[in-house]
Amino acid sequence: MNRRQFLKISLSTLLALNCIPFNSKGLSEASNGLKIPRKNKWLPRIDSDEFGFLAIGDMGTGWKTQKDLIALMSTLPANQFPAVLLLGDIIYPAAKADLLESNLIQPFEPMLKAGNIFYPCWGNHDWLEKEAIHLKQYFDAPDYYSFSIGPADFWALNSNKFDSAQANWLSNSLANSKSPWKIVFLHHSPYSSGKVHHTNKNMIQHVCPILNDYKVDLCLSGHNHLYERTEKIGNVTYIVSGGGSASLHSYEETVDFPRAYIDNIHHFIAVQGNSHNLSLKAFNLKGQAFDQLRLIK
Ligand SMILES: [Fe+2]
Repeated sequence: MNRRQFLKISLSTLLALNCIPFNSKGLSEASNGLKIPRKNKWLPRIDSDEFGFLAIGDMGTGWKTQKDLIALMSTLPANQFPAVLLLGDIIYPAAKADLLESNLIQPFEPMLKAGNIFYPCWGNHDWLEKEAIHLKQYFDAPDYYSFSIGPADFWALNSNKFDSAQANWLSNSLANSKSPWKIVFLHHSPYSSGKVHHTNKNMIQHVCPILNDYKVDLCLSGHNHLYERTEKIGNVTYIVSGGGSASLHSYEETVDFPRAYIDNIHHFIAVQGNSHNLSLKAFNLKGQAFDQLRLIK
């Protein structure tokens, strides 16, 4: 058995341990009037009670770690995990047009071919190059947007410029959401033990109250190059998933928020769920699940 076969078996076995019945997936636009990314084909809307997605942050290096993680992600079937959330810093050191091929398209080629659909949010490195204009054009994506997968609604925020217009849009869109699961993702981590970027007071002051008021279940971010999960803070579980390839950050041993798990480790996240259950697992470079979270409605 070669290494790739071993990892494939290892991943599928681990997922099967916590298997949620999962047959068909559907994606749809949330009715927020914003244009959403559709560079690649969209799956037709299917009235499904199930959803699944992968997430990776701070991956845009073009390095071996990025490609190794993508190889692992590729072993998970695209029909079960159709969506891939890119948690920002999609291209290092800045999202220049001539780096799209080497740092984004070529590394993700196996998943593009498999039919995965990508949902980006913009990192500070992406924003350095003309407010991520080349990435926005590639993904045909706006600053911020929302979408749905079965019983889960998603909001991609632009944490580089979280102004009152975005705050109002987020509040109104969350207020109109009828889905059981509400998932927000953005680049700058509201809460983190990372020694390089730390907790972000601007996000805590301006974003977190909205997430808490509208009972957002999960807030995913990157920026700090590590994996970190909080206990619920108010209504929200915060997860930092910034270990997608770039050099890892060290972290504080003690923090002033309820931390449930911390490790500076290269990884990605896989989530499956239905209207009543959400199962999240974080996988390392060996394809091993090193942390998991189960939420129940
Ligand atoms: Fe960043």
